[in-house]
Amino acid sequence: MASSSLIRFCFSITILILLQSCLHSVVSAKKTYIVNMKHNQKPESYATHREWYIDHFQTLTSASPDSLLYTYETAYHGFSAALSPSEVEALRQSDSVVGLYEDTIYKLHTTRTPEFLGLDKELDPRTGLTLRLDFNFLSCLQELDRASENVIVAVLDTGVWPELKSFSDANMPDIPSRWQGKCVAADDFDPKIHCNKKLIGAQVFSKGISASTEAKPLQSPRDTNGHGTHTASTAVGKQVQNVSLLGYARGNARGMAPHSRLAVYKVCWDEGCAGSDILAAMDMAMNDGVDVISMSLGGGSATYARDPIAIGAFAANEKGIFVSCSAGNSGPSESSLSNVAPWILTVGAGTIDRNFPAYASLGNGEKYTGVSLYSGEGMGEEKVGLIYDMGNNSDMCLNGSLDASLVRGKVVVCDRGFNPRVEKGLVVKAAGGVGMILANTEASGGEELLADAHLVPTVAVGKKIGDIIRQYAKTGKNPTAVLSFGGTVYNVKPSPVVAAFSSRGPNIVTPEIMKPDVFGPGVNILAGWSGAASPTELVDDTRRVEFNILSGTSMSCPHLSGIAVLLKAAHPDWSPSAIKSALMTTAYTLDNTNSPLLDTFNYSLSTPLAHGAGHVDPHKALIPGLVYNATTEDYIAFLCSLDYTMEMIETIVKRPNVTCSRKFRDPGQLNYPSFSVLFGKSRVVKYTRELTNVGPVGSVYKVSIRAPSSVAVSVKPTKLVFGEVGDKKRYTVTFVSKKGVSSMKNEFGLISWNNAQNQVKSPVSFLWTRRK
Ligand SMILES: *[C@@H]1O[C@H](CO)[C@@H](O)[C@H](O)[C@H]1NC(C)=O
Ligand SMILES: *[C@@H]1O[C@H](CO)[C@@H](O)[C@H](O)[C@H]1NC(C)=O
Ligand SMILES: *[C@@H]1O[C@H](CO)[C@@H](O)[C@H](O)[C@H]1NC(C)=O
Ligand SMILES: *[C@@H]1O[C@H](CO)[C@@H](O)[C@H](O)[C@H]1NC(C)=O
Ligand SMILES: *[C@@H]1O[C@H](CO)[C@@H](O)[C@H](O)[C@H]1NC(C)=O
Ligand SMILES: *[C@@H]1O[C@H](CO)[C@@H](O)[C@H](O)[C@H]1NC(C)=O
Repeated sequence: MASSSLIRFCFSITILILLQSCLHSVVSAKKTYIVNMKHNQKPESYATHREWYIDHFQTLTSASPDSLLYTYETAYHGFSAALSPSEVEALRQSDSVVGLYEDTIYKLHTTRTPEFLGLDKELDPRTGLTLRLDFNFLSCLQELDRASENVIVAVLDTGVWPELKSFSDANMPDIPSRWQGKCVAADDFDPKIHCNKKLIGAQVFSKGISASTEAKPLQSPRDTNGHGTHTASTAVGKQVQNVSLLGYARGNARGMAPHSRLAVYKVCWDEGCAGSDILAAMDMAMNDGVDVISMSLGGGSATYARDPIAIGAFAANEKGIFVSCSAGNSGPSESSLSNVAPWILTVGAGTIDRNFPAYASLGNGEKYTGVSLYSGEGMGEEKVGLIYDMGNNSDMCLNGSLDASLVRGKVVVCDRGFNPRVEKGLVVKAAGGVGMILANTEASGGEELLADAHLVPTVAVGKKIGDIIRQYAKTGKNPTAVLSFGGTVYNVKPSPVVAAFSSRGPNIVTPEIMKPDVFGPGVNILAGWSGAASPTELVDDTRRVEFNILSGTSMSCPHLSGIAVLLKAAHPDWSPSAIKSALMTTAYTLDNTNSPLLDTFNYSLSTPLAHGAGHVDPHKALIPGLVYNATTEDYIAFLCSLDYTMEMIETIVKRPNVTCSRKFRDPGQLNYPSFSVLFGKSRVVKYTRELTNVGPVGSVYKVSIRAPSSVAVSVKPTKLVFGEVGDKKRYTVTFVSKKGVSSMKNEFGLISWNNAQNQVKSPVSFLWTRRK
């Protein structure tokens, strides 16, 4: 080729490329991808994987270095980047790339944001949270307090309000020397002032959310939302005397592990939490030296190889870091869980024995009880007009739906659902209403009562009472009502009750693993709050509080994270799976009336698909007697039993040359502390489990079995005699279905190893299904 034509050729190529990239930026904006790389193919010429990733990215794409967001070392093998379709294509062609996955935006597991139309069946999941920090069952454990000073908890959330007294470092010894993390500076965050021997880390991860959304995140660890401060203070908050939300729930507030250290990783914003940011934070947390990771967020359930939280948590588990996640707030629908990987603790939510009663007295002489955290001026004694459903979606009290001429001076009945509960109150108030009865429906909450700090006198009632009041408001003669408030009451019975909003199984990713694992306090929980947000999170609410009351599995997850800290402090040599086993096998399934657990949706019996192994019992979890341990090799054998390609397994395991030389016949063979038995092709399911003695030398256990009449369960042997601590014994359990696959109703049982000191309990669910 003559040199002039070469120049012309090059020139036209350049123009073409320029044109293409211009067109692309018009036609299709860049999207964020997580790029999975073949880690062990790094050429020797690169000193680090990071250098290789950066160079590979720049060579294959014409993209500017800015579009590379993160490189990952520990939680993942690869990097994330904002890519155009042609750049995606270029990377896909590379032999060094396993795959590219579009970034996912996760949600906090308490939210008051309205759902889109059509999704109104989903509960709006966040409502009062009140950490029952006055749980006094942990206060006697002083040696544990000392030991937990050496345990570091990572909370991945909306940041932290560092001035809160829960994060004071009074009387704390120096930070453990292994700590590698940092506190970053911002205009409103001075590490020298705001970080201390309690709050030892504060970092921000926002490149993913900035690339995927219109968000312009504030580059500061400071929590302007409140959620992160709430979850962090629930897990590890120091005791703070005499706190309340506007007078409600007054008492001393403390987290589950008040002496352990807190490292905050801000990954969530008003727009949500990007998978690429979460992964970067997990990567950082692991390298910083944390012991427990608490994540009250999630969304959907993807196969593990496409789930950044599951992939990051696999590496954490291998490093001995315990990962605790919220189960989600999409109950009572079945199969509504997130965060179901077997190496994660999946936490559901229930009530505590405290409540906030409020009363609606009607003109017909009836008086009904609901709940409220209203704290303003009362309505007085005088009954006023009661009104419901004037058309135009006024039954839901959507913004703009209420006609002020009809509503003024009255109490308005509003159906729960669609828009935030507290917003309905403001809509009523703006239209001149003087009170609201917030009434649940079948689709929204059932009998579940969530308390909110409303701005207008409000009583929240369940569906049954709601139906009666709706009927009276529509058909009564001159219907009237007055609302009053009962403050805080304790010793509520029954409690705990499983929350209707708590997400349920079956686990749709791997149905052979029962999820959720366990549940804890998650309804009307008091904990710390952001000084930059109102208690209702409404912009029009100008109140500021140090403590707030919320609900959600976001609230129960950090309870379990904090209790895991205590177990880690008491037993530093236990693996994450041993800690999980202790939390599960000692959980209880009777409430404080000594009856089987109920569900707030309709106060009928709850099942392990909602409550897992049961409600956490921190005392018993410290001395479980026996544990079901699982090693990384066991989890690999589990993955090998799924119909995953080797590439998918490598993505999760992140080891060169991982093989499936050992694989389970069935994923349910994993040494898990619960059983999910699927009668599909076969009417016989057989599993072997291994128990490790963590109790006295020479302990003897006998099995007890509870099974539905439709299944025969046999265990061999029926007695286990253990030697030293660490001694392992196996048993085999055989489940035989007596009924055909056509019957789809789930049933439940229990396998328990007992002696005078301990009961080591495993729930069993039986599912008859045609899958597999
Ligand atoms: C707690 O605080 C409230 C309000 O600030 C105050 O009235 C009360 O006396 C305090 N109680 C105790 C025991 O300090
Ligand atoms: C419903 O809204 C429409 C338009 O805003 C209005 O004309 C109509 O009067 C409203 N109906 C009721 C019952 O308020
Ligand atoms: C209702 O909508 C108006 C107009 O968009 C807005 O100014 C107001 O804040 C909204 N009210 C509530 C309670 O959201
Ligand atoms: C569980 O397995 C891990 C990994 O093999 C081991 O380090 C640990 O000692 C075992 N036992 C317990 C109780 O964690
Ligand atoms: C309660 O609700 C569950 C669904 O969550 C349903 O299966 C059950 O039949 C209901 N029980 C009663 C008594 O209505
Ligand atoms: C993985 O396998 C390849 C090819 O079989 C080999 O060259 C390499 O050394 C192995 N790596 C490790 C860490 O075993």
